[in-house]
Amino acid sequence: MSSITNSAGIPDRPILSLAGIDKNFAAVAALTDVHLDVAAGRVTAIVGDNGAGKSTLVKVLSGVHRADAGTITFGGEQVRITSPADARRLGIATVFQDLALCENLNVVENLFLGRELRRTRLDETTMETRSWELLRQLSAKIPSVRVPVAALSGGQKQTVAIARSLLGDPKIIILDEPTAALGVAQTAEVLNLIETLRQRGLGVIMVSHNMDDVRAVADHIAVLRLGRNNGVFDAATTSSEQIVAAITGATDNAVTRRTARTAAAASTNGVGNDD
Ligand SMILES: Nc1ncnc2c1ncn2[C@@H]1O[C@H](COP(=O)(O)OP(=O)(O)OP(=O)(O)O)[C@@H](O)[C@H]1O
Ligand SMILES: [Mg+2]
Repeated sequence: MSSITNSAGIPDRPILSLAGIDKNFAAVAALTDVHLDVAAGRVTAIVGDNGAGKSTLVKVLSGVHRADAGTITFGGEQVRITSPADARRLGIATVFQDLALCENLNVVENLFLGRELRRTRLDETTMETRSWELLRQLSAKIPSVRVPVAALSGGQKQTVAIARSLLGDPKIIILDEPTAALGVAQTAEVLNLIETLRQRGLGVIMVSHNMDDVRAVADHIAVLRLGRNNGVFDAATTSSEQIVAAITGATDNAVTRRTARTAAAASTNGVGNDD
């Protein structure tokens, strides 16, 4: 892990910033001029209706899709993310909604799939020890690391997928609908896990449809609507109704007026940066 140990003293300076991101699929503008800031030790939720562009944004960040326009700044430097390997190298890990686990393999095998520790042969003991360490750090309730993943609950599978993404020691972790398929108790477990990630100083991006889950863990809530930003809200001071209104477009006027005012003020003050 990085030297950042908890969220208490971490300033809200973004470690990852997207600006002016466009992504088109033929005639479909999936993302238009999208901005997003992600801070270490904070949970940023991305919410929006079906087709709002959430998954496309996740895929741009994880190197699955290449943005058509815009800039990505990571750790203060402008970077290019043109492949999943680029994202991994930067320290951006993604847990996709389907988790991409191999059901027939056990927990250790899944954690180390494709990156088995080798000197001259697989070091089974080291991998098993490392698996337990990792799961313990996440306070995960997994009965055994030698059971096939098929035998685990949905929440436990999500935990294994998150644990696997942490092996690369990322700075940012993106979770796409981490609670979508889970029951009440399992959802609570995964939300606790997200808290743990935040406390460890990771920047967490959570895509979710569930307003309760978003409210439970998010610090900031970025709303996408029809492929564009429709407000970034402070979770502590914003009601669910306000967020739902931004998602559905009922606050189009208020939000766009405020955005327009801010932009106008910025350009009047000469702080607008159009180059
Ligand atoms: N590979 C693709 N090819 C063509 N169009 C795409 C592709 N991926 C996404 N789109 C389109 O881009 C838009 C945004 O889709 P995206 O999957 O990002 O939405 P979403 O917010 O994740 O929605 P959902 O909540 O339904 O998952 C939609 O109109 C979608 O049809
Ligand atoms: Mg999606």
